[in-house]
Amino acid sequence: MDLLQFVRGCTFDDFLLTPQLGVVLRRDPASIDLTSRFTTGVTLRRPLVSANMDTITRAEMAIVLAEEGGIGVIDRGFRVGDIAPQVAEVSAVKRTQHGVIADPHTIAPHLRVADAVRLMERTGVGTLVVITPDKRLAGLLTERDVRFVPGDRPIAERMTPRDRLIVHAGPSSFADAERIMVENKIKKLPLENPDGTVLGLVTAKDLIKHREHPFATRDERGRLRTAAAVGATGDYLERAVELQRAGADALVIDIAHGHSTVMERAIEALRIRLGPIDLVAGNVATAEGARFLLERGANAIKVGIGPGGGCTTRVTTNFGVPQVEALVQCRQAVGDRVPLIADGGVKRDGSIAEALLFGGNSVMLGSAFAGTEETPGEIVLKPVLVAESQKLVRVPFKVFRGMASVSAVRDRLDLEDVDPRELEAIGAEGLEVSVPARGSVRTVIHGMLKHLCSAISYGGVSSLGELREQFWSRPEKFLIRLSQASRIESFDR
Ligand code: XMP
Repeated sequence: MDLLQFVRGCTFDDFLLTPQLGVVLRRDPASIDLTSRFTTGVTLRRPLVSANMDTITRAEMAIVLAEEGGIGVIDRGFRVGDIAPQVAEVSAVKRTQHGVIADPHTIAPHLRVADAVRLMERTGVGTLVVITPDKRLAGLLTERDVRFVPGDRPIAERMTPRDRLIVHAGPSSFADAERIMVENKIKKLPLENPDGTVLGLVTAKDLIKHREHPFATRDERGRLRTAAAVGATGDYLERAVELQRAGADALVIDIAHGHSTVMERAIEALRIRLGPIDLVAGNVATAEGARFLLERGANAIKVGIGPGGGCTTRVTTNFGVPQVEALVQCRQAVGDRVPLIADGGVKRDGSIAEALLFGGNSVMLGSAFAGTEETPGEIVLKPVLVAESQKLVRVPFKVFRGMASVSAVRDRLDLEDVDPRELEAIGAEGLEVSVPARGSVRTVIHGMLKHLCSAISYGGVSSLGELREQFWSRPEKFLIRLSQASRIESFDR
């Protein structure tokens, strides 16, 4: 079958997949392997990515995505030159959980309780390692040790001193540290070098988090991973440097038209400035576009011109490629040499399976997460007419907007420099809508993963990787192109 020919001009709702002989005993996400690559360097246990939109991904969303095995991309929807707020979001994700903390916050024993309280507040850390001037372990000081204590008391008087602590000599794996902590019923385990200096710290809080989230996307230091978006002009180089310094695991160079000389220059400049960090580039929707980014060294390619829920690019410019065709074009162009991120157009969970089969290694979601608790933005109560009773009720809503919508563009710009008429024109490629506020994104993700596992079971295999292999070796075994009537039968509910 000529797959590209078969999917020309098509998108998600144009296909069904033929059920195959089922081989899995249980369809639950704990037993079905959904491992996939996000970039050449970052692997996900769950192939879900939250979109870099200012109404979708800030630290709160990125933390949940990483805990659940996906990854969030912190948006760049801050004013030009205003780099610190985005860096703070990245730092917040990187700070929430650790493995062995290699560089715990320290304080000197001769300082006062007030100094410790200040340091705890500034860093958001509840345990300080007390060290002597020659950097040897002197004790531990926790929030409990300083609560209700006059600020002028010396730290040495409040800390638990070295001789009353259980201390591990030399490095330790996270598992060994857990065993020692359980045996000794302790919540903190300092690690010490032979010369008495501090090698690291393990906390019970981190152990619990690791147990609670066994599929989480973590870096080599046990911290949650996050990506962050930059542009290709303006402050992007300084922004990228700061984001890398804050620990961003990948940078997403996100521009509307990634198959462009602007993108080429940005990749080159970022590579020189940042070295080997994973760079995701996009968006593109053609074989030429994908090859262009591959040849310029992108570590993942974001695919999608115009399918997004908050997007009006196709309406206003008439350019774009239906998302299934775009994915197949890009996949055929780059093979397995670089992962693709299928970005946009997922309106129902079934399309996630399609996005992953037609070429995406992961799926980026914006509107599918809109309105959840973890999205940024205030809840507003709006009157809604209930049809049956003809009564007005006040329903909670949150705003979801395209990053090229007038309001999103306005918030990013320094208004004093902008002619309002120009602003209207710039913001011509995005929508702003109110969506009902709903519960945690965790529930939404769990639903998606269950449905993805069911899709794998219907596909007659036991992992996402196998389903992809089977699909690409014999697409005709799976693909049914829908008639108008069968589309209505399938998706109109
Ligand atoms: P979904 O369908 O998941 O898509 O909401 C999310 C993706 O939509 C893109 N996006 C935009 N595209 N104008 C556009 O042309 C916009 O204003 C806009 N805002 C977001 C983006 O790729 C996102 O990941």
